[in-house]
Amino acid sequence: MTQNDAALFAVGAAQWLSASSSRTSLGRDAVQLKGFATAAAPELTAAIKSVAAVSPFRHMVTPGGWPMSVEMTNCGDVGWLTDATGYRYDSLDPDTGGRWPAMPESFLRVATAAAAAAGFPSFAPDACLINRYAPGARLSLHQDKDERDFSHPIVSVSLGLPAVFLWGGSKRADKPRIVALHSGDVVVWGAASRLNFHGVKALSDGNHPLTGTFRLNLTFRHAL
Ligand code: SIN
Ligand code: FE2
Repeated sequence: MTQNDAALFAVGAAQWLSASSSRTSLGRDAVQLKGFATAAAPELTAAIKSVAAVSPFRHMVTPGGWPMSVEMTNCGDVGWLTDATGYRYDSLDPDTGGRWPAMPESFLRVATAAAAAAGFPSFAPDACLINRYAPGARLSLHQDKDERDFSHPIVSVSLGLPAVFLWGGSKRADKPRIVALHSGDVVVWGAASRLNFHGVKALSDGNHPLTGTFRLNLTFRHAL
């Protein structure tokens, strides 16, 4: 082995080590990529501001009549909605009457790279739900099942304040695993885990340099 070969080998090993140490399996076809989006986080956060300037965050109301504690908006070809009539994807924002803002280029780059790193090389998201959690906001256990084709994975990017993610199984009664999510972490689930239940515990108080007193989450889907 020449010195050059050794140097190349060391670089390869370092990359492999950091790749493996930042990756936690959550089960079949589900992985937490710790810090995958840390470098992109400031750009992603700025892009969220631009999206929200057009389609503001709002508390959507569930079909049962309850306002959600998490505030939401969307970007992409279609956005996820809940209202008195149910859950669906729509190309129009009901609050503005116009189309949802286009998916920022930085969103697409991170989502497709994370999906590829998780073993889904051809993910092409057409929808991004943006969640904003203030202290106390939570998301009860649910499945993402309003998309047409479950062969596409879900890519979820955490920004700002940390959260406790509940990673359940295929049945609501399955005891969820507790997963700490920090800014820059990306969770990808698909294939065998695509319909797993998941949720977010009530957000704790805090202050984060990127997002202040909030946690932001991007959930990328191929909805249509
Ligand atoms: C979601 O399930 O839509 C969001 C998950 C999260 O905020 O981490
Ligand atoms: Fe979800």
